Amino acid sequence: MSEQPDISPRPGLIRRFLNLPTDSVPKTVAVAVTLCLVASMVVSAAAVTLRPVQEANALRNKLVNILQVAGVYDPEVDVLEAFEAFETHVLDLDTGTFTDRFDPATFDDAAAAENPETSVVLTDDPAGIGRQARFVSVYVLRDVAGEIDKVVLPIHGYGLWSTLYGFIAVEENGNDIYGLQFYDHAETPGLGAEVDNPRWRALWNGQRLFGDDGSLQITVGRTAPAAGADYHIDGLSGATLTTTGVNNLVRFWMGETGYAPFLENLRSGEM
Ligand SMILES: Cc1cc2nc3c(=O)[nH]c(=O)nc-3n(C[C@H](O)[C@H](O)[C@H](O)COP(=O)(O)O)c2cc1C
Repeated sequence: MSEQPDISPRPGLIRRFLNLPTDSVPKTVAVAVTLCLVASMVVSAAAVTLRPVQEANALRNKLVNILQVAGVYDPEVDVLEAFEAFETHVLDLDTGTFTDRFDPATFDDAAAAENPETSVVLTDDPAGIGRQARFVSVYVLRDVAGEIDKVVLPIHGYGLWSTLYGFIAVEENGNDIYGLQFYDHAETPGLGAEVDNPRWRALWNGQRLFGDDGSLQITVGRTAPAAGADYHIDGLSGATLTTTGVNNLVRFWMGETGYAPFLENLRSGEM
């Protein structure tokens, strides 16, 4: 008797795949690819849904730093409520005066620094920032009589590994430093990140920016300038490179391309 041909239907692709042993190469690859896809979808969904929360936290962190550098932070008081004590202005760096060309409530500093109409490419760039906005949001704290008490000025520049973003608070005379604080950087903990050490930050309080002749005197580092210790902050030991970055960025922002025209207007009582 002749042998009957096998006429049973050939299993489909999926059935053949499922019938493979669990440790076969196709099954292992399929599980790995599926896991990657699911994990990337979860991560993407989390990134999208958490973005508003992250932005709100970043804004809150910035406001806390403005309050802290001006010495008016109270953890018991709501940050937004406490921040109402400040006036936000958009400063024209060239004239050193507040401008009403932009609404301070909606002015986007990061976008202004990218926009060729509101920023310049720096040829002399000691702070290592590439472009500089010519308009900057600044924060003014007034006393009960309505006179300027302090101004909080954003500063940023390159340290050793990262761009440091922070604020410097200057007294109403446009010369005495009240405080300096960085809210974002990636310097090494224990070395460059000691810029956050409260004991080092305390050194800034009461130091002066400009000498009697109006020239910029403030320095940060090993050696004090000829003008004297009132104009000098000791560098961080073991972090000379970050210290040099802070010296460069502070001198850049307090100089003619930065806030010097505004601080001169404050000093002469024209604000
Ligand atoms: C892993 C590592 C991380 C460092 N991070 C920093 C830093 O964040 N800032 C800094 O100024 N120096 C940092 N340094 C040290 C610098 O390379 C350099 O030695 C130091 O700035 C010299 O400071 P000094 O003259 O005060 O000793 C780091 C060194 C190493 C090995």
